[in-house]
Amino acid sequence: MASNKFKFLFGLVLLLIGTASAQLSSNFYATTCPNALSIINKAVVSAVSKEARMGASLLRLHFHDCFVNGCDASILLDDTSNFTGEKTAGPNNNSVRGYEVIDTIKSQLESSCPGVVSCADIVAVAARDSTVALSGPSWTVLLGRRDSTTASLNTANSDIPSPLLNLSGLITAFSNKGFSAKEMVALSGSHTIGQARCTVFRTRIYNETDIDSNFAKSRQANCPSTSGSGDNNLAPLDTTSPTSFDNAYFKNLQSQKGLLHSDQQLFSGGSTDSQVNAYSTNAQTFKTDFANAMVKMGNLSPLTGSNGQIRKNCRKVN
Ligand code: HEM
Ligand SMILES: *[C@@H]1O[C@H](CO)[C@@H](O)[C@H](O)[C@H]1NC(C)=O
Ligand SMILES: *[C@@H]1O[C@H](CO)[C@@H](O)[C@H](O)[C@H]1NC(C)=O
Ligand SMILES: *[C@@H]1O[C@H](CO)[C@@H](O)[C@H](O)[C@H]1NC(C)=O
Ligand SMILES: *[C@@H]1O[C@H](CO)[C@@H](O)[C@H](O)[C@H]1NC(C)=O
Repeated sequence: MASNKFKFLFGLVLLLIGTASAQLSSNFYATTCPNALSIINKAVVSAVSKEARMGASLLRLHFHDCFVNGCDASILLDDTSNFTGEKTAGPNNNSVRGYEVIDTIKSQLESSCPGVVSCADIVAVAARDSTVALSGPSWTVLLGRRDSTTASLNTANSDIPSPLLNLSGLITAFSNKGFSAKEMVALSGSHTIGQARCTVFRTRIYNETDIDSNFAKSRQANCPSTSGSGDNNLAPLDTTSPTSFDNAYFKNLQSQKGLLHSDQQLFSGGSTDSQVNAYSTNAQTFKTDFANAMVKMGNLSPLTGSNGQIRKNCRKVN
């Protein structure tokens, strides 16, 4: 009896240790790679100072990683003759940017502390540092994610929300990942930075009615109505301050200057109008809610222990 009880307690202790090591922690690399965070920060600041948009691209990279089977760097794996990754999925193909910045950071980290820092953690820290570099809020990035050995094209196509979704579709897409409608609105505020291609907003600027007509006209000037022409022409998601992480995105929505159909859906007479008004009035509330939602996004199904690896090259499995 006593021996069984002992075995049970011993097992419980092992279980707790196992669970504890499966938790992410802010000081995960404190002894194994003390310069990890400063190496990442330096590279991000340099990339964003060369091209401000890169900050937006790196923030989006983390989102598209986390929404597909968790934050596991699956999005970074290149296609090969016998492997199909996520890079050619509809939401990513000719759209997601920043892979080279992550490569640069990874090679610097491999020089300093080989085989220690995961690609998934690099992406998570780069997203935070990018936001800060564009005057946005900061947050503590929890660390210790491991990298996947697989990727899922199908899940990338199904789980990353489309700009054609209506409000209830957006709410569902985020609720599927554990986010409230309020968190969805806060996270959408990331469209206060960065650019979008003509192909994703063409129908809106030519055919939708809940759009400011002067705004629509000015966007039409650089986005031809014929599908296939000018598809990659860019326009800022935030028409007023596309390289500043502020709350202008929400003010644009109030004046029907959301660029994407999905953006304007957040302020279209539905249940999220009041939240858009709140963030539009109070930039600080937006930034605080955004930072908290980013921490939550970064915690989506991290791989730990033998379920993952530390890739030497972020583009391929070891
Ligand atoms: C609410 C649902 C969302 C939809 C439907 C959506 C859709 C899009 C689309 C279509 C683009 C333009 C892509 C292109 O033209 O190549 C874009 C850009 C962007 N998205 Fe989202 N997005 C959503 C949520 C988010 C979230 C949660 C984040 C980050 C936390 C994010 C960050 C960005 C950024 C920063 C850009 C600009 C990227 C760049 O300039 O390279 N988006 N998004
Ligand atoms: C894919 O092919 C490469 C050689 O080109 C090989 O090393 C690798 O093991 C293969 N991967 C799988 C999953 O079969
Ligand atoms: C991805 O984009 C390229 C053009 O750069 C295109 O040739 C290819 O068909 C696209 N792939 C998919 C799966 O849509
Ligand atoms: C939103 O879109 C879904 C799927 O396309 C559709 O079934 C639903 O009726 C739409 N809801 C509203 C309120 O338009
Ligand atoms: C606008 O709607 C019309 C009528 O449905 C359609 O023929 C046209 O292709 C649409 N234009 C764009 C740019 O979506």
